[in-house]
Amino acid sequence: VNHLLGIKYLNEADIQLIFETADHFKEVINRPIKKVPSLRDITIANLFFENSTRTKLSFELAEKRLSADIINFSASQSSVTKGETLIDTVNNILSMKVDMVVMRHPNPGAGIFLSKHVKASIINAGDGAHEHPTQALLDSYSIREKLGDVAGKKVVIVGDILHSRVALSNIFALQLQGAQVKVCGPKTLIPKYITSLGVEVETNLVKALEWCDVANMLRVQNERMDISYFPSTREYSQQFGVTKKMLDSLSKEIVIMHPGPINRGVEITSDVADSKQSIILHQVENGVAIRMAVIYLLASKIK
Ligand code: CP
Repeated sequence: VNHLLGIKYLNEADIQLIFETADHFKEVINRPIKKVPSLRDITIANLFFENSTRTKLSFELAEKRLSADIINFSASQSSVTKGETLIDTVNNILSMKVDMVVMRHPNPGAGIFLSKHVKASIINAGDGAHEHPTQALLDSYSIREKLGDVAGKKVVIVGDILHSRVALSNIFALQLQGAQVKVCGPKTLIPKYITSLGVEVETNLVKALEWCDVANMLRVQNERMDISYFPSTREYSQQFGVTKKMLDSLSKEIVIMHPGPINRGVEITSDVADSKQSIILHQVENGVAIRMAVIYLLASKIK
């Protein structure tokens, strides 16, 4: 398959191949000359229909490190605002001889839809509350780097599971690699189907933290929120916000992750985000090597 639409479509061997390829590129980007000429003959369009800092910049950097030609598209500055459809937009871009499309879109399944209608390799950079596969890959890669392996590790994903593509992709990726996964958050922000994925629900934050090796803290996605889901930010942070005092009271040192952007003082306090237990900036660093690996492996199938 010439696409990365979701972790759901990968197997464990695919993930290990991506990690081994990322190991190589991580070594490359730590050299004085950080570029390789591998994709000089590939052109990539980065299509962002929704805002992004980390994903957009690290895809762009990954493409530049691989020597691909790139064009960047932001929906808010494009003819989408004049009513042009997604398929027309992409087909017009592809007619300029583009080989690969990286797309973030607010609608779940937008990448899958596109892959059925256009002739290009599609990478899903986040589609609504559905999947964010490269985030889950860089998250697992960061756990592997920190703890040696993902298999057998206990990971709790805390927060707004209902609106989170990061949660769903992480659940699929972690389970494929043999990790145990729990979710923790307000009942109103945990979808009913979650237990059918083999994921346990823990509504007590301290119990969840005591159980886990790794806590992946998610932002409450106010932009996708219906007001009836949860009463107030203050109430959320009191019940589900991680503090340094809480971490220090646990029987072992756990690893703290966050995909970003952080709402400091809501899901984690600053002294947790910036503590030595936090690998948040390592996740961002690993995003470049992981995205290089994904692009490189997909490009090798279209060359
Ligand atoms: N983690 C993540 O997707 O961040 P951005 O929305 O800034 O890309």
